Amino acid sequence: ATTLRGLAEAKGRYFGTALTRSDLSNGSETSIAGTQFDMVTPGNEMKWDTTEPSNGSYNFGPGDQIVSFAQSRSMRVRGHNLVWHAQLPGWVTSLPLSQVQGAMESHITTEATHYRGKLYAWDVVNEPFNEDGTLRHDVFYNAMGTNYIADALRTAHAADPDAKLYLNDYNIEGQNAKSNGMYSLAQSLLSQGVPLNGIGLESHFIVGQVPSSLQANMQRFVALGLDVAVTELDDRIQLPASSSALQQQATDYGNVVKACLAVSRCVGVSQWGVDDGHSWIGGTFPGYGAATMYDAGYQPKPAYNATVTAL
Ligand code: XIL
Repeated sequence: ATTLRGLAEAKGRYFGTALTRSDLSNGSETSIAGTQFDMVTPGNEMKWDTTEPSNGSYNFGPGDQIVSFAQSRSMRVRGHNLVWHAQLPGWVTSLPLSQVQGAMESHITTEATHYRGKLYAWDVVNEPFNEDGTLRHDVFYNAMGTNYIADALRTAHAADPDAKLYLNDYNIEGQNAKSNGMYSLAQSLLSQGVPLNGIGLESHFIVGQVPSSLQANMQRFVALGLDVAVTELDDRIQLPASSSALQQQATDYGNVVKACLAVSRCVGVSQWGVDDGHSWIGGTFPGYGAATMYDAGYQPKPAYNATVTAL
């Protein structure tokens, strides 16, 4: 039978999904995940608030469950994430700034060492940019300045030399101030010999608003010698979703897949979740939903068919 993973693999790409621990106990989701997708991103289970809820005490059980599910279905795993201003436990933000670098390096070393050899990639720093292309002044920036990013990448590389190391953000899919900021940062890191392998374009789109510069933007990062990946694709619709919106969503999904296939080092596309019934969108963008390729009854939508056609 036709599957996203089979079609993607035939093109030298992967097609991924995000899974949380609760998704693992839903047989409909695990069945679709294991059949259609060949890459898993843990939705929450490798984030700092889960893995190091208090200073120096680590909890890898939830992340390990996602990894073992993936291995049992011959899926690879994208680690997500090591350093992020959100889902960050309060103890980190309460530290004296002089102790933040040590805490960050210990966290990265311990977590990346735990998963060494088991992950295809790590989102080492997640969402570092403001919309205007400047770096967010989060606790890591406040403690170390811009240099926290190079330090995080070097620390992750030392712990897991085989994982592809990514910077990941949203609203950097098209060419704009924010993606220009990411581009300049990537250029500067590479010129300093910092181990950076790829840029993750989250791709949380609104239906009809996939940027026309997506492919050109991917291409400019690839021209620096980097991989790119669509890491968290969804395409939200104001509810109730009309049939014309679902058709536009199909066009959008097809366009994202076509852009990736047109760029040699766009390594794969991951959807954020399996189906509309378990997507994060409703909880974060009230009034919106229907953002994935599967409806709440686990049936493939027009976006699924368009994706198959594009692959
Ligand atoms: C989301 C999860 O899906 C939710 O369950 C959680 O409550 C908040 O985070 N960008 C990211 C992801 O990099 O980690 C986010 O995941 C979605 C936006």
